[in-house]
Amino acid sequence: MNVHESEKIAGIFVELGYSSTDKVEEADLILFNTCCIRDTAEKHILGNIGDVKCLKKANPNLIVAVVGCMTQQKGMAENLKKKFPFISVVLGTDNLSELSSAIRSIEEKNKRFIADVHDDPNVDVGCALPIHRTSGTNAWVNIMYGCNNFCTYCIVPFVRGRERSRSPKDVLAEVRSLIAQGYPEITLLGQNVDSYRYENYDFSALLQEIAQIDGKFRLRFMTSHPKDFDSKVIDVIASCPNICNNIHLPVQSGSNRVLKLMNRRYTRERYLEIIDEIRGKLPGVGITSDIMTGFPTETDEDFADTVSLMERVRFSNAFTFVYSPRKGTVAAEMEQLPAKVKQDRITELVRIQNRISSELSNVYLGKTEEILTEDVSPKHEGCVCGRTESGRLVTYPGQADLVGKFVNVKIESARSSALFGRII
Ligand code: 5AD
Ligand code: SF4
Repeated sequence: MNVHESEKIAGIFVELGYSSTDKVEEADLILFNTCCIRDTAEKHILGNIGDVKCLKKANPNLIVAVVGCMTQQKGMAENLKKKFPFISVVLGTDNLSELSSAIRSIEEKNKRFIADVHDDPNVDVGCALPIHRTSGTNAWVNIMYGCNNFCTYCIVPFVRGRERSRSPKDVLAEVRSLIAQGYPEITLLGQNVDSYRYENYDFSALLQEIAQIDGKFRLRFMTSHPKDFDSKVIDVIASCPNICNNIHLPVQSGSNRVLKLMNRRYTRERYLEIIDEIRGKLPGVGITSDIMTGFPTETDEDFADTVSLMERVRFSNAFTFVYSPRKGTVAAEMEQLPAKVKQDRITELVRIQNRISSELSNVYLGKTEEILTEDVSPKHEGCVCGRTESGRLVTYPGQADLVGKFVNVKIESARSSALFGRII
């Protein structure tokens, strides 16, 4: 989501006549696209903004801008101005369309500080903005913005407002244009794609219509929510060969007690039922998840339930997070667990997931998979890498001219979660 927002911001800068530089000391403008979902992300970004102070001293004309969901927290714009007086622009997630005029005002009218951070429930965030796509073979397409779920640990509904679905007409036009430009992969984005709704379109109808667009391309989507997960989506994936057999379905915890406290509104049993249905209808599917440790009051038994769920599901990959309290959320007011307990638990989860990912690698050995080549391998000379339909990364001998092309690769070896093969 943030990567795609950065592409929109880069599009605005290109229109304003800026180009990118690798040398930060040479920059005329530095923009921080922030994220506040976890404490670590926020601390990191505050540290980075602080580092810019000396650059501003060396170049007083340097424009420093801060945008993204961190700015959308109550009082944050004023705090940033106080803490970092060299910042010139602070804009919220719904106000990106004002970035261009804010930069122009600073450049031309020498205005010192512009802040515009407000929720705009009607805004189709950045839909009309130019996009400078940087993600190579994959093009991200927002189908909805915001979230209505208020999971008790999560800041997103506070900083990104309520759910707004884009019209199917706009989404389809954007995808058609991307395919005509030659993008071989499209990823549809939303905090909770399963609650997409626009007139009589639900997510499965939108997905099916996009999949039927002419051309050779892969279609992915994220993120799904177990509470709203609709069997029709599995049926559409099963019937459309270009929709990847790959579902990101965050579970967060395996304990019903914790799921209830998190306000996730599904049980462990319901989650496992969905997994069984997906696996029954989509053989070879890759299922990934987000899992949190250290939610307030999480006991050893609750944690054991999470471990047993991981062992039962065997995710192809899991993004694991240590819970961090976010101001204004319900869970931040609850009694917190000691840092060591949280840390020990996440270390254990990472260990378990690494073992499972590596065991699952063996399933691919000897098989031939269609791979979309994404990039030159950063680690293996003379090789390129790409993904299976199920989302696993594969490295194979090849040159840069393969990037963006589909190839058939026979998987010959595996090293933990990394797969290696040869084009056949
Ligand atoms: N602390 C830790 N992880 C969080 N996530 C969301 N909020 C928090 C928080 N306060 C995780 C969830 C979510 C993913 C995008 O980030 O697992 O699915
Ligand atoms: Fe946050 Fe829950 Fe919404 Fe996901 S569904 S963005 S975790 S509130």
